[in-house]
Amino acid sequence: MKTNFLQLVNPDYPILDEERPQLLVPAPFTTSNILLDATVATELTNLIETLKIENDVIVTDGYRTKKNQQDLWDETIKERGITFTNKYVAKPGCSEHELGLAVDIGLKNTINDPIKPTFSTGPIVARFLYNMADFGFILRYPKGKESITRISYEPWHFRYVGTPHSQIMKQQDWVLEEYVAFLNATRGQVNEG
Ligand code: DAL
Ligand code: ZN
Repeated sequence: MKTNFLQLVNPDYPILDEERPQLLVPAPFTTSNILLDATVATELTNLIETLKIENDVIVTDGYRTKKNQQDLWDETIKERGITFTNKYVAKPGCSEHELGLAVDIGLKNTINDPIKPTFSTGPIVARFLYNMADFGFILRYPKGKESITRISYEPWHFRYVGTPHSQIMKQQDWVLEEYVAFLNATRGQVNEG
């Protein structure tokens, strides 16, 4: 099945078995055993090498199987409680990490909590945020959109959607739920017209 880089994943749109990724590659900028969709890995490399921040950032997570997500969910509930878990861990079957299209990034030379890596302030983060849309990336869970995404602000979690979608979303200040709703409404109009 061809990868749909615009696939919306949330509790209303869980991942179907046939949508699970087939081609994954080792993630760049990590020494851990992390996989990503091949296009995401390439574009992340392009972005980070263009900005020359390869010595400043670390990929802390990428692809997760549904079982990985279930284990993460269960462990996080046990260790940090249900309120924290609901804020920062997507329900198993409903995480875009399960598509290989999401990547968590932290700053190197700092302590990166595995659920909440450190990537919120400073010049490196600012340059990454400023340029990422030109390489197809969005900040998937921004501040102020929690009622739409139903996930708390996650400054470390980036989603690949591809250009020009990422650039349009940046310009309009839309999260993926809003952009997909816009595309569906537009398609409806085109089909009706
Ligand atoms: N941290 C995000 C919401 C996930 O678990 O997919
Ligand atoms: Zn993430």
